[in-house]
Amino acid sequence: MTEPLLQVQDLHKHYREGRTTIHAVNGVSFDVYPGEAVGLVGESGCGKTTTARCILRLEEVTRGRILFQGTDLTALPRSRIRARRKDFQMVFQDPNESLNPRFSVRRTLREPLQLHGLYSSDAQLDEAILRVNLEPEHLGRLPHQLSGGQKQRVGVARAIMTTPRLVILDEPTSSLDMSLRIHVIVLLKRLQREFNLSYIYISHDLSTIRHLCDRVMVMYLGRIVEEGRTAAVFDDPTHVYTKALLSAIPIPDPTLKRSRILLKGETPTARVLMAGCSLQDRCGFVLDECRQPVPEYDLGDGHRVACRLAREHPGFQTAA
Ligand SMILES: Nc1ncnc2c1ncn2[C@@H]1O[C@H](COP(=O)(O)OP(=O)(O)OP(=O)(O)O)[C@@H](O)[C@H]1O
Ligand SMILES: [Mg+2]
Repeated sequence: MTEPLLQVQDLHKHYREGRTTIHAVNGVSFDVYPGEAVGLVGESGCGKTTTARCILRLEEVTRGRILFQGTDLTALPRSRIRARRKDFQMVFQDPNESLNPRFSVRRTLREPLQLHGLYSSDAQLDEAILRVNLEPEHLGRLPHQLSGGQKQRVGVARAIMTTPRLVILDEPTSSLDMSLRIHVIVLLKRLQREFNLSYIYISHDLSTIRHLCDRVMVMYLGRIVEEGRTAAVFDDPTHVYTKALLSAIPIPDPTLKRSRILLKGETPTARVLMAGCSLQDRCGFVLDECRQPVPEYDLGDGHRVACRLAREHPGFQTAA
């Protein structure tokens, strides 16, 4: 069995806002293996970006461990983190966040190497820009002289300059139209094969997740409520929240019947920490015991779910 590249163990991130505490991430654990793409989905505000920022130590964690190739990043001093950054990179939702408006594309691509004392030749920069289907002539441009899709691709090119092991992509295609989106997905797949990259892919776009990701994790109110192979989770969702999330998208195959599952009310804020299942007040199938802490159930082949209704599932086993 190969060792995981990344192990996130019981991650918590709380923000203080005046006298209240915002529980943005609330006990998240998962592994990412070399060369695999893992999707992270869930509605706005559930803690996806915060999870990503904690993994990269752009944010200090409140509790938990982040093991990257066996080293606990949360225990490393800042100076040592900088040296490790070469191995993990992020592509931000807003390309403007990773591109300095005053830097040419050339300088933007050179910078991550320079930070690690590495030199980049002109040939290397040409290769980097061609890799993301742009032309060497784009190297001289400033961000405002590029389209949204071009900026996004420069962001991807920048992220892989240091040949990282892990790239976290936060909604990298949300500002793109459908054809460009497909373009970026094809590009990411190719780069993944070429460099044996691992991805954590954060998106609201479930069809992209389905195309790109080997596994998917579904997050709700700071917790992962279901995870497994993408096909297993999408074709046979067990958590009521996953069912609701998936039933909100149209099914291209009319022979597949999927009943629409609606949740009651609004998502509560991350300010109240709930005992038991965080979906209890919105779930139409709620049981008395859902007010108690929910164990995680194992449905086999890495398909895990934190929902008592999973007991109805044929693959059900109590997790060890
Ligand atoms: N710096 C901060 N200070 C206080 N609260 C924060 C901070 N950053 C995030 N939050 C809160 O933490 C929660 C999770 O936010 P996060 O950005 O991780 O959500 P998300 O899942 O990425 O959402 P989206 O899909 O909209 O990008 C939200 O309630 C948010 O308001
Ligand atoms: Mg976000």
